[in-house]
Amino acid sequence: MAVTRDQAYEILHKYMEGERYLEHSYAVEAIMRGVAEKLAPEEVEYWGVVGLLHDLDEEHCEWKEHPETHGPTSVEILKKEGIDDPVLFDAICAHNPESGVKAKTKLQYAVLASDPMSGFLKAIAQIYPDKKIASVKHKSVLKRFREQRFAAGANRDYMEAIEFTGMDFDEFIDIALEAMRGIADRIGL
Ligand SMILES: [Fe+2]
Repeated sequence: MAVTRDQAYEILHKYMEGERYLEHSYAVEAIMRGVAEKLAPEEVEYWGVVGLLHDLDEEHCEWKEHPETHGPTSVEILKKEGIDDPVLFDAICAHNPESGVKAKTKLQYAVLASDPMSGFLKAIAQIYPDKKIASVKHKSVLKRFREQRFAAGANRDYMEAIEFTGMDFDEFIDIALEAMRGIADRIGL
């Protein structure tokens, strides 16, 4: 049975408390929905749910010491909650290649790319005096993207992996910016 957005939201809040993690989950959900509008218009809610739940286990596994558990632990939690959706499970694991699941489908590449993109755009917003995502321009995103030392934790290769879905990187930037602007208040930007 596929998870509804309401159900996903409820599960997320049951297992995630950190405000920054929650904001990150909403941001990735919004980007995934934006990407799905282009690539899978029938599945916008579903792609959003993948974004919303991709880090579900953040506070429940030792992801620093054991990065391979980040993803599979979310799957265990979801199973415990009565969810049985292999497509969702594989997509969640594929956002962290260290889980052993390598992205192959468009949905998997989209979550692999949307995760670092959300943090990257947030890091750029924070350079501006108003710290608003509304201040971030496409051109500045490209400039910062080339500065390897800037937000070094945001994996450039994963972000560019969006191209495996057929979407070009420039379009992805615009979609992600628009998505995050659309929920700016909820994500503190
Ligand atoms: Fe994430």
